[in-house]
Amino acid sequence: KMKLAVLTSGGDSAGMNAVVRAVVKTAIIKGCETWIVREGYEGLVRGNSEGNRHTYSLEKGTSSPRLKEHPDDFVHNLRYGDGELLKDGTGDHPGGRTLRGRYIVRVGWDDVRGWFAEGGTLIGTARSTTFRTRDGRLTAAHNMIKEGIDALVVCGGDGSLTGADVFRAEWPGLVTELRQQGKITEDQASKHAHLKIVGLVGSIDNDMSMTDLTIGAPTALHRICEAIDNINSTAFSHSRAFVLEVMGRHCGWLALMAGVSCGADFIFIPESPPDADRWEDEMCQMIQKHRDVGKRKTIVIVAEGAIDSKLQPIHAEFVKNVLSERLGLDTRVTTLGHTQRGGKPCAMDRILPTLQGVEAVEALLESTPDTPSYMIGVRENKITRVPLMEAVKMTREVAQAIAEKDFPKAMSLRDPEFCE
Ligand code: F6P
Repeated sequence: KMKLAVLTSGGDSAGMNAVVRAVVKTAIIKGCETWIVREGYEGLVRGNSEGNRHTYSLEKGTSSPRLKEHPDDFVHNLRYGDGELLKDGTGDHPGGRTLRGRYIVRVGWDDVRGWFAEGGTLIGTARSTTFRTRDGRLTAAHNMIKEGIDALVVCGGDGSLTGADVFRAEWPGLVTELRQQGKITEDQASKHAHLKIVGLVGSIDNDMSMTDLTIGAPTALHRICEAIDNINSTAFSHSRAFVLEVMGRHCGWLALMAGVSCGADFIFIPESPPDADRWEDEMCQMIQKHRDVGKRKTIVIVAEGAIDSKLQPIHAEFVKNVLSERLGLDTRVTTLGHTQRGGKPCAMDRILPTLQGVEAVEALLESTPDTPSYMIGVRENKITRVPLMEAVKMTREVAQAIAEKDFPKAMSLRDPEFCE
């Protein structure tokens, strides 16, 4: 009987809860036992040790009477936390309020009911610093073995998936070390000789190679479109120009697709840097042309990672000044920020994680010590399995190619078939 845990890691994205739901339900149907890990890899490191437990005496202002009455109400605990302030400021919550108690929690069918419609990630996420160390991973392995877990589903971006692969590669050594330290029995060591891992890509950026779409990207795009629709009406009323900065790290997918969806006048993306000496003229000519044919509003989209041909960042504020000074347009900047990342998942971010969650469990059930760790992707509308490290490597090479100004190479690595 496979004992499987699922965690979400890195920046949250819509659809992560649908992943957890699909993985848990599929695994139960297939006869596995299921756990969730709270707070990403940080939860694996913290585990369920006594030191994490507390008495539910909550600090003023964070008190939850229902929690006091029902300390084991799992879903309530997830939503509202168990209310203690972490004193050590580790992980991604320096001094902030986070969950304490059990981090690796056994879950059943009802615990994940309705989760496909919830934004963010209910089980929490973090960018764990401790898991990046071998000691942290040794503790994580120990915590998993104590629970009997032998398979891990990780939903996150390329950094989180790299962490998963490192963990799997190191696993036999970690088990040997735990055995030598007398922390696990011979029986536990032989039962846990190998770790099964599968990755799903949760990221609003759609920046992973070897897959067409990452979980959360469609919802973020939808949020951006809604925001631009809102801006359009006020821009039209005042005949104004708006410069919108959208997220995406080094990837221009959100900016480009939002521009296409909303009829933007000009778009800046990292993959196609404009000529540093000419883009101001080109942009002004284009926008002036649009104005000359009667357009009352102007929308310029700047991807967060936009750069020019000299690799200098293009900032929304600078673009605004160009439009105001050279075209005399009444211009405003709107940075959409984290509104892009939150909120209810759109239908695609329920369907994709559900199909991929099912595939993830199947990949784990078929996994042997000789098969690679897979990343579950989607290619031309079909759910795929690709070797996780190949996809991560290619994603890193794209970033490198952009840094080296080799844009055709970057594009061909990101989407080889498209470039053919
Ligand atoms: O990777 C997702 C993402 O939202 C990027 O688009 C953005 O650059 C980054 O995360 C923001 O991170 P944080 O939420 O830590 O500010």
